[in-house]
Amino acid sequence: MSGFDKRWLDLREVADHAARDCDLRRQVIDHVMPAGEGALVVDLGAGTGSTFRALSPEALHWRWRLVDNDPFLLAEARNRHGQSARIECVEAQLSDPAIDLLSGARLITASALFDLVSEEFLVRLLAQVVQTEAGLYAALNYDGVCRWDSSHPVDEEVVAAFNAHQRQDKGFGPALGPTAAPVLRALLEEQGFKVAMAPSPWRLDRSHAELQRQFVSGMATAAAETGLLAETDINDWRLARLERAENSGCLIGHWDLFAVR
Ligand SMILES: C[S@@+](CC[C@H](N)C(=O)[O-])C[C@H]1O[C@@H](n2cnc3c(N)ncnc32)[C@H](O)[C@@H]1O
Repeated sequence: MSGFDKRWLDLREVADHAARDCDLRRQVIDHVMPAGEGALVVDLGAGTGSTFRALSPEALHWRWRLVDNDPFLLAEARNRHGQSARIECVEAQLSDPAIDLLSGARLITASALFDLVSEEFLVRLLAQVVQTEAGLYAALNYDGVCRWDSSHPVDEEVVAAFNAHQRQDKGFGPALGPTAAPVLRALLEEQGFKVAMAPSPWRLDRSHAELQRQFVSGMATAAAETGLLAETDINDWRLARLERAENSGCLIGHWDLFAVR
């Protein structure tokens, strides 16, 4: 188990798919299409295959290598798509520098992953990416912005503590957290990639009440772990935000990025 259970990934997928930037999605498809039937896409931290679904129906024509360290999520991907698509599931630790997963790829994808990784990990990954002809599509990189329709007195402090928690080690060294997209962009440009970026915020309303509740609970727990706020403040905030999820909305910032050489 990686700590990302499939109910959470399913819950966020509706918001993720609505948030992905349409123009970048089109550019990604246009990049893969000329490689023809069977072009290889390598999805890093693939979970249950959300990026495959986001790029479908075109994705059905391609070969997919889904890489994750969670065998349960990969089994779920296989259950959902093993009959209809050419999917190879690879259980691997992405933090292991020795593994070569990218050879032959036309496209490398990652969604909601690079905010968990360190700059050192990205440098190592890009050293492998430049050995291929692949483009890189990194979607839904959290950028540190959380804004609610109705404010609460400690919103700012909770978001700051949550963002500090996002910078802690998530298994790849000190995590990039909200800085992931600009750091990735700079590293790609150093390597001669042409980079396009577009905002892809979650816009959550009362129809996403359960996602809002889960997100708020996770934020409060992470903020509490930092020790930066008084416990009573966090608990007040958590209760107020849980109550308001049915009637109010919020914006959670992300960036999508697509890079080609
Ligand atoms: C936030 S989830 C995103 C999943 C999927 N890309 C999506 O958008 O639904 C992050 C994924 O990265 C995987 N992951 C985290 N650390 C990993 C590691 N060290 N090696 C391989 N996969 C990892 C998790 O198991 C999880 O599936």
